[in-house]
This record gives sequence, C-alpha cells and structure tokens, in this order.
Amino acid sequence: MSSSQGFELRPTTTPTDAGQRDEILSNPGFGRYFTDHMAHVRWTHAEGWNAGEVRPYGPLSLDPAASVLHYAQEIFEGVKAYRHADGSVWTFRPEKNAARFQASARRLALPELDAETFIGSLKALVSQDVDWVPTPASEAEESSLYLRPFMIASEKFLGVRPSKEVDYYVIASPAAAYFKGGVKPVSIWLSSNYNRAAPGGTGFAKCGGNYAASLAAQKEAETHGCDQVAFLDAVESKWVEELGGMNLFFVFKDGRIVTPALTGTILEGVTRDSVLQLAADAGLKPEERGISIEEWREGVHSGEITEVFACGTAAVITPIGELVSDNDRLSCSDGSGGEVGKSIRKQLLDIQYGRVEDRHGWLTRL
Ligand code: COI
Repeated sequence: MSSSQGFELRPTTTPTDAGQRDEILSNPGFGRYFTDHMAHVRWTHAEGWNAGEVRPYGPLSLDPAASVLHYAQEIFEGVKAYRHADGSVWTFRPEKNAARFQASARRLALPELDAETFIGSLKALVSQDVDWVPTPASEAEESSLYLRPFMIASEKFLGVRPSKEVDYYVIASPAAAYFKGGVKPVSIWLSSNYNRAAPGGTGFAKCGGNYAASLAAQKEAETHGCDQVAFLDAVESKWVEELGGMNLFFVFKDGRIVTPALTGTILEGVTRDSVLQLAADAGLKPEERGISIEEWREGVHSGEITEVFACGTAAVITPIGELVSDNDRLSCSDGSGGEVGKSIRKQLLDIQYGRVEDRHGWLTRL
C-alpha cells in the first residue's frame, strides 16, 4: 500500500473521466463539485489520533445518535490550492489555518490536530487529486481548488459531553469566484433582529454553529434584495463585527484602513491578517479597533470613508456597494468598487498565483 505524508493511499476504482472533469473545471461555480478523494483521520479518547488515509470521496456512515448531529460539536477551515504558471501547486499560509483549527478545537472541546498532520492532509489529498486544481486561463480568472478540512463528533451517545470519538476529513472542491456575479460590489443587509456571536461564545471559532446562526439573518437579507448580512455586537448593537462569513475593512481618505479588532466575537481571518500586512506594505495606516455603525454611516456621508470591502478565503476581497437597513440605504461605492480594495486584491492574488515574489514567505508547496 503506498502512502503520502504518512497518509495511506486507497485510490478510487471509479475516477471521474478526464472529459467530465475538464467540463467541471471550465465552470466550477463555488462548492458544487467535489474531487475523487478525501483525507480522513480518526481520533478516539482511548487511542488518540490514528494513522490517516486518503480514500475515495463518498457519503459518510454516521450513527443517527452521533453527537455532531444533535449538539453541533464541529469545526472547519477553508484553504485554497493555487496552480502557478509553471504547473506547480501551492497553498497560502496553511500554518495560520492549522493554528486557528486548534483554537476552534479547544473552544468546541474537540481534540487538537497538530499542524504537521493538518498540512500533511492537504498535501496528501492534493497530490492524489492534483488534476482537479484548475489552471486559470488569465489573470482575471481566480479559479483554485478550495479545500475544506473539518472535524466532527462521531460518538454514538446522546448525553451532552465532549465526544470520545471524532473524525477529521478534508474534501476538495474546484472553485471560481464565491459570488455569482464575479467581482462586483455586493449589497449588505444590516441585521437588527439577530446577532452572530456574544462575548464568551464561539464567535472567534470557525464552527458550523456560527454559520447556522447566521442563516435566518442571511434569509432576511435576501428578502430585502441583499447579497449578505452584516452583524453588530450583541451587547450594545453599536459596533460593526463581520458579515455571515467574511471580515470587513473600511478605507479612509487620509490613508487609514480600519478593521474591527479581534474581541473574541470576530473570526481571525487569514485574509484579514494578510490585508493588514499588504496595506502596511503599500504605505497605508492599518488600524484594528472598534468601528461603530454611526462611524460607518457618517464616514460615508462625509466622504471620509471612501471604500468598504469584505474579505475571506472564499470571497478574497469583495467591494461593498450598499448598506441597507430598515430605514436607510447607504451607497458605499460608485458601482465599480474601490481602487484600494482592488489594488490589495491584485497584490494578494499575484502572491497566491506566484506572479510576484512571495516576500512574506506565505506560500507552501503542495
Ligand atoms: C471561507 O472563506 O473559506 C469560509 O469558510 C467562508 C464561507 C462563507 C465559505
């Protein structure tokens, strides 16, 4: 039996044929198609982490009493694999995702997976399914292989306590732009009925529950014709936190670029951190601090705030066109998105696709 990165390889006997794969890769959308394999590592309280495997992609066999199905003891990550012009495949700051996965595991009382196994699982899966990593046709096309590591509580037990059996998987999905329309300004609904996270809760963890909790608000956004929802803090309903699955940035005309500080209720985005660095490199003045909804509104009205954008692994950098609430409609962009966001977006993608020097050592070869 062959192995990669310590992961035993059990290849599928029914791989997708090359023609069908190429058709998928020519228009993958986001999160709709999956590659032929998945990585898996099992943990038990008695034995710790077992040896990993890369096995055929397919449905999981899960007992109906598995605690993840009842108490949502689950965490996940989002990572991308990028094909460079020379055909090599790279990923971006996976050690940050590994560290965040460990922080999420601690909060959800799941076992921590060491960074070496986390990164090894990405390498083992991508080397098996490397033909699924899209080759972007041009610089404008941001196709990649989106990797989704996740960990679930799989013990058959209905008592409420940390599961003694856990499974870690990585699945992979060829991806184009997250939003259907590509990179164009999105409209945001400001939720006044719902909060995403509260102090002491799980806001900083990347757990399914946070996303489940955002869905009613996301539905509300859609009934108001908006693409996404923005959440305010749960204590004062004053401080801007984040979107359902993306961090926020505000560009000021004097060169400041502000993102909400990590208070424990906000996800520590890898793209967020990279934007802060790239903004500083470009001579802007990054600030991590509280930004209130009044400051957002007044800043846009007075022209102090010239751009607002959202960022995340899936969405990269997406301009915010409009902020909509019950009694207000605030236009945050002229419709083309802002120059600062566009320029940081280009720098980020140029690094990720190997078109410029990786001056911060952010890339890892898969
Ligand atoms: C990501 O950006 O990777 C996420 O997990 C967010 C989700 C909206 C796809």
